[in-house]
Amino acid sequence: FLTVEEIELPAAFDAHVHLRDGEMAQLVAPTIRKGGVDTVYVMPNLVPPITTVQQCLDYKKRLQAIEPNVEYLMSLYLHESITPSEIQEAKKAGITGVKSYPAGVTTNSSSGVLDYETFYPVFAEMEAQDMVLNLHGEVPSSPAHAHISTTTTKNPFSPSSTAITILNAEPAFLPTLLSLHKKFPKLRIILEHCSTSAALATVLKCGPTVVGTITAHHLSLIIDDWAGDPFCFCKPVAKTPEDRDALLRAVVGSEGKFFLGTDSAPHPLGKKRGEDKVAAGVFTQPYALGYVLDALKTGVERGVIKEEEVTKSVLEGFFSGWGRRFYGLGEGKGGNVVLRRGKEMVADVLRKDGLAVEVVPFRRGENTWSLQW
Ligand code: NCD
Ligand code: DOR
Ligand code: ZN
Ligand code: ZN
Repeated sequence: FLTVEEIELPAAFDAHVHLRDGEMAQLVAPTIRKGGVDTVYVMPNLVPPITTVQQCLDYKKRLQAIEPNVEYLMSLYLHESITPSEIQEAKKAGITGVKSYPAGVTTNSSSGVLDYETFYPVFAEMEAQDMVLNLHGEVPSSPAHAHISTTTTKNPFSPSSTAITILNAEPAFLPTLLSLHKKFPKLRIILEHCSTSAALATVLKCGPTVVGTITAHHLSLIIDDWAGDPFCFCKPVAKTPEDRDALLRAVVGSEGKFFLGTDSAPHPLGKKRGEDKVAAGVFTQPYALGYVLDALKTGVERGVIKEEEVTKSVLEGFFSGWGRRFYGLGEGKGGNVVLRRGKEMVADVLRKDGLAVEVVPFRRGENTWSLQW
């Protein structure tokens, strides 16, 4: 793998993308294929979120109008307005799944979930309809400055007194995953963007209906990278080197329990530079496969994974086959792509004539794999 200069792979299935809407979608959707991807699972956290079947179908049409040569799998945003009968309608309309964001943990999640039990009837219907539940697996942080307050505000996700921060927010969520799986053993559940070895271990412990996605950027980033760099800041935040290395091992060693979901999350330049609050999200769409291959190379060089573990079948599985299998998709229609090591430089900024919005990609100015359809 280290000496291979060219790899031919089937076009990928990216099981977690943020394509936004309006001008941002016009900028970003055309980069899906550039990154080597022909099928995407689209996140619903627009403003306002996609909470009805009609909104979802309209959104899909807008995306198809921008980039027709991509297959879009769609999701609804779990919300109190979603009922079991809406789930039945969603299934009939070809909607694939439902994404749950705990309230307040990340971008546009203010209308997210406060209490999972409220949604048990919805989950039961999803299980019956064989729909996918996508979990943003973090509990909300304890109220800001709780550490200097004399009274502790009760956090519904954290009955114990341990304060929740962005570093333990994912491990603290894992009991919720286990209890949902126990209650709904046939419900297909995906723990999205796994970022800790604890998350990987918990997914592995569950039955075959539970899997995890892994992003490109969590395979290389650690805490120090985003502390001070807005373009590496995302939710869940990248964790320790040990966590990062566990993710690399999961890519090559888990035999399909984990697959690619980039969580590519574009934000306008001004939300990353210049505002008081930095928006969470790393934009990886145009170079998705190249970033993963680069991270695997670094993993081999550091001795975390073995060169012979990075086989063609692992790459095909992680990028495409394992995710398609879990989602019940057939073969992709995209054919193959050819990647060439180091032959492309990541743009400093993504922009397009006639659009005001600009986005800075992950690892701007560095070399990665070029990609040809
Ligand atoms: C960020 C979030 O909620 O993740 N807000 C945003 O992108 N609109 C802010 C944060 O990370 O604290
Ligand atoms: O970093 C993130 N950005 N994490 C998420 O879960 C949401 C995403 C976004 O929409 O920007
Ligand atoms: Zn998420
Ligand atoms: Zn996401």
